Amino acid sequence: MSEKIGKYRDSLKIIEIHYVGILTEIAGYGLWSVGRYPPPDSNILDEVTMKPAFKPGSALFSSGPTKKFTGWTVSHLADVSNGRSHRAAAPKAKLQNAIERMSAMLQLPADYRMGIVPGSDTGAVEMAMWSVLGARGVDVLAWESFGKTWVADATKQLQLTDMRIFEADWGHLPDLSQTDKDRDILFTWNGTTSGVKVPNADWIADDRTGLTIADATSSCFAMDMDWSKIDIATFSWQKSLGGEAAHGVIILSPRAVERLESYTPPWPLPKIFQLTKGGKLIEGIFKGETINTPSLLCVEDLLAALDWADELGGLPALIARSEENLQVVADWVEHTPWVSFLAKDPATISNTSICLSITDPQVQTLDASAQSIFAKKMVKLLADEEVAFDIGAYRTAPAGLRLWGGPTVDSDDIAALLPWLDWAFEEVAAETKF
Ligand SMILES: Cc1ncc(COP(=O)(O)O)c(C=O)c1O
Repeated sequence: MSEKIGKYRDSLKIIEIHYVGILTEIAGYGLWSVGRYPPPDSNILDEVTMKPAFKPGSALFSSGPTKKFTGWTVSHLADVSNGRSHRAAAPKAKLQNAIERMSAMLQLPADYRMGIVPGSDTGAVEMAMWSVLGARGVDVLAWESFGKTWVADATKQLQLTDMRIFEADWGHLPDLSQTDKDRDILFTWNGTTSGVKVPNADWIADDRTGLTIADATSSCFAMDMDWSKIDIATFSWQKSLGGEAAHGVIILSPRAVERLESYTPPWPLPKIFQLTKGGKLIEGIFKGETINTPSLLCVEDLLAALDWADELGGLPALIARSEENLQVVADWVEHTPWVSFLAKDPATISNTSICLSITDPQVQTLDASAQSIFAKKMVKLLADEEVAFDIGAYRTAPAGLRLWGGPTVDSDDIAALLPWLDWAFEEVAAETKF
């Protein structure tokens, strides 16, 4: 029996760490020796050391652009009005239809407005910042890369003077209760680069006088959003809907519109940021009359994603799919000693951008650069095997992995990927000098 173990140890690259565990599992090995895979009574050995036999149906786990819904083909774009003006009746009707369907799916209150704007989510966030900030003091919250970008915009570009910045380290949220309801509050609902989301909107006052501005690009269509607490939200289709980038979406509450119509910022506004004319909201923007020329191909693609989402059951089904994806990962993290969520508080773990840290004690003895090399080797190995693409941590985030778990990703694919992560970890650990 010990000879067999030795054989496995050679051919499957079992590393020392697991050898002790293997000895306790010896009784299950008779089946292995005659080549059955997967063994009917799985044990630690097959789960963590053997190259998995099954690949995910899709290896697309990028956090943006994200995977398209299963079943998507270019034939979904066949109806596009190629070569037509976006102001012509049919294309404009599609833009308006897209707005109406997204608003309905997100369950926006009837008096909220939605517009399609240039520059993807960044364009929408900056349009909001440039248009409404400066009217009163603002609290800017940041706990990962994009939030920090909005802090930089507020300080270096807009050079706001009455500003408080609440920042937190990777994996944490700042103290949300420090925000002031009578100031504007700018925050990121889901920090895509750290996988930390706000757990809810309870910290936002109903009787606030300031505006809340939420970069919600990786939360819309995947998380419950309490619209009564949000005055301006932004997103891009390239996240939870698996759509194309380039266009952003801005959502305005009546109080946001009031601000836009009553406040003129002291800085110049480029045309693509202008939501008002002569002190009045440009209503056409919210009916499909985009500020500049949109891509009708992108809109067609969006409509296909909305058809898919409708067929599934709309927002609750989208959220459920994403939560299921996180659950599959969470169950695995719980019994996998080498990995943890980057998010420290379980209530803040993102169900879309699922960020993982390699917390294996030996890997933790490496310096930051060696940890990053370790994670990158895993990422490359998995891409080479064509089981997962683009799952490295964001370039400025701590070393680790990031899996997109938004609604377009199938939980079966995540489940099929997890043994590959174990395998890749062990492969890289075996060749690393600790
Ligand atoms: C939270 C957040 N904000 C902004 C952006 C930028 O989005 P876009 O490239 O669509 O402008 C991203 C992209 O990942 C994001 O995750």
